[in-house]
Amino acid sequence: MNDIYDSIYEAPARVNLIGEHIDYNGGKVFPVAINLKTKLYFRFRKDLDITFNSLNTNLFIKRNLENLNYEKTSDWANYPIGVIYILKEKGYIINKGFDMLFESNIPLGSGLSSSASILVLTCYALAKEFNLNIGKKEIAKIAQEAEVKYCGLSCGIMDEAIISLGKKNNGIILDCSEFKYSYVPIDFKDYTIAVLQTNKKRALTESKYNERVKECNSALEILKKHYNISNLCDLNSNELENIKESLKNDILFKRVKHVIKENERVYEFKNALGIFDFTKLGNILKESHDSLKNDYETSGFHLDTIVDIANNFKDCIGARMTGAGFGGCAIALIKKESFIEFKNYVEEKYFEITKINANVYLVEIEDGPKKIK
Ligand code: GLA
Repeated sequence: MNDIYDSIYEAPARVNLIGEHIDYNGGKVFPVAINLKTKLYFRFRKDLDITFNSLNTNLFIKRNLENLNYEKTSDWANYPIGVIYILKEKGYIINKGFDMLFESNIPLGSGLSSSASILVLTCYALAKEFNLNIGKKEIAKIAQEAEVKYCGLSCGIMDEAIISLGKKNNGIILDCSEFKYSYVPIDFKDYTIAVLQTNKKRALTESKYNERVKECNSALEILKKHYNISNLCDLNSNELENIKESLKNDILFKRVKHVIKENERVYEFKNALGIFDFTKLGNILKESHDSLKNDYETSGFHLDTIVDIANNFKDCIGARMTGAGFGGCAIALIKKESFIEFKNYVEEKYFEITKINANVYLVEIEDGPKKIK
């Protein structure tokens, strides 16, 4: 493969440590880029065709730069095509055809942002190949715009931002209302983050996700009549009783309660990490999961099962679902030295209950996209 393609690029996946379903509510999130990767092999063509191939699926898609309209049959290639579409819409010159071959070891559709990884990687590679002067922040914005406008998921900026801005051994605290961020060195000392993949295919993710976004927007519209706010995350938990009164709607109140408290947990988590208070970190993860399960209702049987199993393990101090939810992955903070024991314990118990094999693995915190050839 290395010989027949001119360039090779790679981009990471991500896990969000804390701040779930917060980005589109204008609050703060705390994600990290991880060492599961999408690779992109690239070469120019002599015509205006663009082709998309993957070592992970059988699909081969051929399109043309003159017609980038959304076509359902283009399947996952709509992610890279969406990026090209947005770049051209913004006036960037993409005037030569090319072949793109993707390869990924990110479990697809598992809540680790395999799609944002493809989007950011495509934008990063095209910026290099066509000499477009686009910074990392702008790459994240273009990739997000492709996902929202072209692929139809009303997602926030978190995934694309951390994948584009990722830095080895650092997380970012990202203020999603203004897209401001700062790096936070991550040192879990004797502990580590394990990723627990439920292998439960995420169900209804797009529709349920968009439904949550709509619920939050409806709540915001009502609350704007009572408070001088631009986002739900401008509110704080001292106001919860009054907010309940103003909303007069139990479902919307549960959603808003999650958003406000989860946003506050981001700083609590950062502070606890700063003083190496691992018990506190574990408790914050547990609180976050309970809130996503009971108030935001984005968990589900498989995620709850794997999180409960993890929490029952002696050297796990806390676990929670990560990402959009409705299936996918959880994270757990565990003692490093107990990893093998933890992995066997979780995989065995999870199979007993669900008859599905889970995968438990360790991840390292990685850099954003790179050109590797
Ligand atoms: C998905 C979205 C993100 C974010 C998370 C939930 O990963 O793409 O923008 O909303 O869900 O925190």
